Amino acid sequence: MKIISFLYPGGEASKQVPELLGCAENALGLKPFLKERGHELLSLVDKEADLDRNLPDTDILITTPFWPAYVTRARVEKAPKLKLILTGGVGSDHIDLAAAADHNITVAEITGCNVVSVAEHAVMQILTLVRNYLPAYKQVLDGRWDIGEIASKSHDLEGKIVGIVGAGRIGQRLAIRLRGFDVPMLYYDFRRLSTVEEQVLGIKYALLDDLIPKCDVISIHCPLTPETDGLFSRKRLFAMKKGSYLVNTARGKIVETLPLVEALEKGHLAGYAGDVWYPQPAPPDHPWRHMPNHAMTPHVSGTTLEAQKRYADGVKDCLQRFLDNRPIERDYLIVEGGKIVSPSYAYAYKKA
Ligand code: NAI
Repeated sequence: MKIISFLYPGGEASKQVPELLGCAENALGLKPFLKERGHELLSLVDKEADLDRNLPDTDILITTPFWPAYVTRARVEKAPKLKLILTGGVGSDHIDLAAAADHNITVAEITGCNVVSVAEHAVMQILTLVRNYLPAYKQVLDGRWDIGEIASKSHDLEGKIVGIVGAGRIGQRLAIRLRGFDVPMLYYDFRRLSTVEEQVLGIKYALLDDLIPKCDVISIHCPLTPETDGLFSRKRLFAMKKGSYLVNTARGKIVETLPLVEALEKGHLAGYAGDVWYPQPAPPDHPWRHMPNHAMTPHVSGTTLEAQKRYADGVKDCLQRFLDNRPIERDYLIVEGGKIVSPSYAYAYKKA
């Protein structure tokens, strides 16, 4: 079997921190395990040249959302031997899922592996924006002390209306974490939760276009599908409350690139944060790098050291089962048997 992986380059840190399992150098700790089973893992970094050179005779491809190898239909067609694509993480939108289904390739991700990590990052970024943290920190570095400049744009989160778009594993964990801040919360999801779930989480259901103008803060947690691509269009961004904040740790393409810059430049939105971009890695001139009032990070929320251990273990489990001809964990499957089977993705593809 030819097994290849595309993981982020870990550099010096890969030697100093052995727990940095998700990098190309440490290759999810898979090399000894695969060697024992008589297989070799080719751990690659260059997602364009290396991918295109290796695809024709690859059986299994491992990639992650943090350093995604974009597996387009054209690439799937150049990979006649490809049987399994594993995503070390959550979110397999970098793969053309319909093409994978058409070619009977199984796609699996490590469902749940980093949902806590992302929920924590979203809480951090909401507070970073609402409290006006980054300009305050910059004052410290710059040797300044201008209280008015910071305090005039700093708020309590308490009492602000928070909207959660996509109330799945991450969205629900965010709600649990925000309960302690005493905020009224609305949510939108194409699948409404039960009354009991809504009550326990302290969230009220609203349709997307009803939720948008009511919220002071919106946090996005739905997958990127043909339906959510550009969901936060110019119209929806300008329908948000003036002076509100948007946080997106789901996928960059869910928010339209240039309209977001415009909404921040015109002061319609008070701030934007998140860790997801399109494409990834974001080029040095990506317009979101230099737009006003943002608090973005590279795509790191779901790749804490703890999360890396969980997704490394999950990828190993999938490989073990696949090589033993045993079924992959049901919850991990996105595409199987020529069908998109994950409920979160299947809904959108059926409609597309
Ligand atoms: P999940 O599958 O548990 O939840 C997704 C929710 O979105 C589901 O409740 C689903 O019904 C809902 N949904 C799907 N399409 C929708 C639509 N058109 N409108 C409204 N709701 C819709 O997934 P989980 O684990 O909560 O992850 C959500 C997304 O977060 C992933 O798909 C991924 O893109 C992103 N993610 C980002 C990470 C990061 O490092 N920044 C790490 C992990 C996930």
